[in-house]
Amino acid sequence: MSTFSNFILIWYSIHKRDLPWRNTTDPYRIWISEIILQQTRVSQGYDYFLRFMERFPTVQALAEAPEDEVMRLWQGLGYYSRASNLHAAAKSICNKQSASDHHVTDDQSKREKGELVLQTLKEEDGSLFPKTFEEVRALKGVGDYTAAAICSFAYNMPYAVVDGNVYRVLARYFGIHEPINTTQGKKLFATLAQDQLDASCPADYNQAIMDFGALVCTPLSPSCTSCPLGESCEALRSGQVDVLPQKQKKLTLKIRYFHYLLVKAGDTTFIRKRTERDIWQNLYELPLVESNHQLSIPELLQAIKPMIAEGEEPQLTLIRRGVKHVLTHRIIMADFYELTLPASTCSFATCQQIKMEQLDDYAFPRLITLFLDKSS
Ligand code: ADE
Repeated sequence: MSTFSNFILIWYSIHKRDLPWRNTTDPYRIWISEIILQQTRVSQGYDYFLRFMERFPTVQALAEAPEDEVMRLWQGLGYYSRASNLHAAAKSICNKQSASDHHVTDDQSKREKGELVLQTLKEEDGSLFPKTFEEVRALKGVGDYTAAAICSFAYNMPYAVVDGNVYRVLARYFGIHEPINTTQGKKLFATLAQDQLDASCPADYNQAIMDFGALVCTPLSPSCTSCPLGESCEALRSGQVDVLPQKQKKLTLKIRYFHYLLVKAGDTTFIRKRTERDIWQNLYELPLVESNHQLSIPELLQAIKPMIAEGEEPQLTLIRRGVKHVLTHRIIMADFYELTLPASTCSFATCQQIKMEQLDDYAFPRLITLFLDKSS
């Protein structure tokens, strides 16, 4: 075992955090926790995980749930494609399993020569879950990191995880200046991480290095003076802790301009589901006009004219302007308007008309819930 792994494991044996997805080898629980924790801090993901497990304790419960309910439980966590992918993967796990159940039942009934045997062959949930790295990696929404986490934590298989914490710890300890967001950099760090993995205890080693990055070797103000690896840390020796890990600069973020309409038609309003392959897939939103610049009121009126019945005078009131919402690859600048129409108007062809008070029953992106909460 390398000095690095040895120190990391000793540190972990003392400082291990008691988290609800640890001390289990159930791959389903581990999978859910890892998807929640992608792009989400432990403190924020904690309650979501508990609520999710309470409502969907098994992969079957998740597979059988309506998509909207899954999205509602996810509301506020962001990156909603994670929830859609989880749901799709749960369904594919259960479909595969029921196909193989039928196969077994058919064989049995052949053997039993027509004897009527009604038997449900439902395996324990743990055993529904794929067992090899390749099968786990093939699940929708599961990348190299998540597959390595599931296989090491659930099955103790020797796959090293490489997440933001691991990049930082390795880049600093070994003094590596290769950017972590290039193909070459990713390969280099993946190989280094795998070389450091202690194959006699992959689950503990992987948890240990991630926790070490989250608690000691933090992005800002790391605890170098009390760090147990300080004596052999290359970045500390050369005074480069603050500049590692390195990232290649990205192009500037594209800005999208969204103009949302809170329609008031008597006691009804309009919403639509975002089904297209884009941000917020499967979440709901208010009627939207998107453009490549911020529209003035006359421009917006012009844009919504085709949606409104002939001869009608819509009343458009600006409620909030220039709400900035930052996503990974995009910035959204949103304006919110109230659009008052006669109750009889049934325009907005791609939207569904609902009662105003039903707005709470749908999962919206945070940008919209914040607006609705403030304007109610
Ligand atoms: N972040 C991602 N996975 C984690 C885990 N298993 N424990 C703590 N933090 C994490």
